[in-house]
Amino acid sequence: MNNDIERVLYSQDDIKAVCKRLGADITRDYAGKKPLFIGVLKGVIFFMTDLLRELDFLADIDFIDVSSYHGGTASTGEITLVHDIDVDISGRDVIIVEDILDTGRTLAYLRDRLSERHPKSLKVCTLLDKPEGRVVEAKADYVGFDVPNEFLVGYGLDYVEYYRNLPYVGVLKPEVYTN
Ligand code: IMP
Ligand code: MG
Repeated sequence: MNNDIERVLYSQDDIKAVCKRLGADITRDYAGKKPLFIGVLKGVIFFMTDLLRELDFLADIDFIDVSSYHGGTASTGEITLVHDIDVDISGRDVIIVEDILDTGRTLAYLRDRLSERHPKSLKVCTLLDKPEGRVVEAKADYVGFDVPNEFLVGYGLDYVEYYRNLPYVGVLKPEVYTN
């Protein structure tokens, strides 16, 4: 698996440090509140568990699953809701947690869907932000790293469902997906 990686972009230590920074920022901003964290499956699983262990307040967790990629390295633009959250978010402080923001379509879709349910507040935390990929307007309130416009895998990010379990974020060799 490691042989398919061109270079490591963020090591386990880099990611740990960024989770600590984001955890401290969120802990400061949400003092006295009990926000709900909604993780976007499946890419967010590692980030969600590392980030939430850096928070020093009561928080609860749910997950939502949307699909936009359908297997390739470029977004199809069509988003489908695969699994919805189980809880009522009206009047709640909600934070959407994402692995990566690329075209912005997933986040725009989630914002629309969740806003309709009248949360008290709705913010977004993403580990990675690829600003050059943006097609629709979408902005995160908390960002781990701004990344170049390359196809990344690892630490939850997949290529055709593989490489999620690499402990770092890396750039996939182009020949892996052009072959
Ligand atoms: P968006 O809707 O284009 O912003 O894409 C968001 C989703 O696309 C993310 O949650 C990822 O699942 C996926 N994605 C975007 N860029 C990458 C990448 O470089 N590697 C793996 N998945 C990606
Ligand atoms: Mg995803």
